[in-house]
Amino acid sequence: MFTRVRTLLEELPPRGLWLGPLILAGCSMEFSGQQQDFALSESTVEILHSTPEGQERLLAELERLFGVASAPGLPESAASLRSLGSLETAPFDVSAQDAEAIREGNRARFEQELAAIESGEAGSLGPWKWAPGLTESWEALVAEELAGPAHMERARQLFTEYYPSLRDSAALYGNKCLHCHGNEGGGDGPTSYTARPIPRDFRLGIFKYDNLEDGGRPERQDLIEIIRTGIEGTAMPSMATLSAAQLHGLADYVRLLAMRGEVELRLTMAHEDGEEPQRSEIDSQFEDVVSLWRDAPRERIDAPTTIPEPTAARITRGHQLFHDSSTVSCASCHGVGGLGGGPAAYGQAEDDADELVALLSDSWGHPARPTAITSATLRHGETPGQLYERLYLGIDGTPMAGIGGIDDGNGGLIFDDEDIWSLVHYVRALRDPQWNALLQELQTEVQ
Ligand code: HEC
Ligand code: HEC
Repeated sequence: MFTRVRTLLEELPPRGLWLGPLILAGCSMEFSGQQQDFALSESTVEILHSTPEGQERLLAELERLFGVASAPGLPESAASLRSLGSLETAPFDVSAQDAEAIREGNRARFEQELAAIESGEAGSLGPWKWAPGLTESWEALVAEELAGPAHMERARQLFTEYYPSLRDSAALYGNKCLHCHGNEGGGDGPTSYTARPIPRDFRLGIFKYDNLEDGGRPERQDLIEIIRTGIEGTAMPSMATLSAAQLHGLADYVRLLAMRGEVELRLTMAHEDGEEPQRSEIDSQFEDVVSLWRDAPRERIDAPTTIPEPTAARITRGHQLFHDSSTVSCASCHGVGGLGGGPAAYGQAEDDADELVALLSDSWGHPARPTAITSATLRHGETPGQLYERLYLGIDGTPMAGIGGIDDGNGGLIFDDEDIWSLVHYVRALRDPQWNALLQELQTEVQ
């Protein structure tokens, strides 16, 4: 079961060194953007191996609910999560403010098109790359061969009010994301295998980069932010050159893939437990997953705005908490002094004492590697506020549990705000040479 890790060094490559080639790989490869039809996941096929007909029926049901990769869709009951190609039909959670930003982005992205419409030279526009729906709508408008102000206004609106349909977003995803995240969002695209961490498999509905309690599904803004900025220290590139409309559309499509994956997983498990699920059960599982994304209340945790000073006393307290094996023992995973590789994280291979193996795994079944806090990129950011949020909430899908808000049984908290801030300042001190002398002193106490 253990996945071998050759050396610890391999797990913790120096910053620029490994990212370069990955980012290059991300940018320079040309992908056709032609998705294949959606397939069942490997684990579904394995679980349902004895019933090829069952597999076929499951695939057909998923197709009924989510469409196919070249024409994705959602049934009427989930219509508020999809768009038909314009802001007027945008998903329910696109706010008025989002809409304004999308219009502004459209005016910039379609500057040439809008100018051509104004000067009456729009006849030869298009096609638009990775936007088959927009291209079709434009061709239909041109085919009407109408002229006059009303027609011109519709032409203008097509571009300024553009909000990608799921089909357009699927095409863009096919070009920009599929090679890492895979056709069905399984994190298994052709270039995924060289990336550490591995590109996210969206199909469990678990996401790491949001500030929500209890595994709540990320909100639109969380997904857009991560797609726009990328994730420093991982292969996930920044997509800041895309327009606001495209970013929103990609978030919609990621959501669709996540919902599709989770419904598939639930139905496969139901299948495994006994009878093949009936239509009514399939629909109720679908509604349940949709409502996790659409209706479920989400509790956001934001760091308090007043940040206590990083004093020697706080850093010392943080150091003690970090190494305290009676509570959470950060050091058991992150190593003494946050160097990476604590005893809970790596151990000897069963058949080869010289080889270290990762002992922890994440929700996706991949080895989980506690961050070398002293040297690695902190992917969630390293401002005091960002670290507070991370320690409070933990990182969904990984063994790193949150320490915020846990009742101590006596009306208090196991870790109160002061404890969390002490750990925050300790983590920051580990990365700041200014505190070397104090840290060395504290270190000798542990050894
Ligand atoms: C070169 C590979 C690569 C490409 C291309 C790529 N990603 Fe990623 N993506 C990753 C990796 C790696 C992670 C996981 C990072 C981690 O686990 O910390 C990730 C994570 C994510 C996440 C999860 C964030 C979370 O909260 O867990 C989302 C959403 C995402 N990518 C969307 C996209 C979209 C949309 C595109 C295309 C516009 C894209 N990615 C292109 C590699 C890639
Ligand atoms: C059970 C093991 C475990 C324990 C205990 C643990 N962590 Fe982690 N921690 C992890 C793993 C695994 C990751 C990397 C998760 C990922 O893949 O994103 C991580 C990531 C982190 C990060 C980096 C976040 C980023 O932005 O990249 C910090 C900081 C951190 N942990 C601090 C702590 C502190 C402080 C404690 C104690 C309160 C602690 N951890 C306890 C396993 C653990």
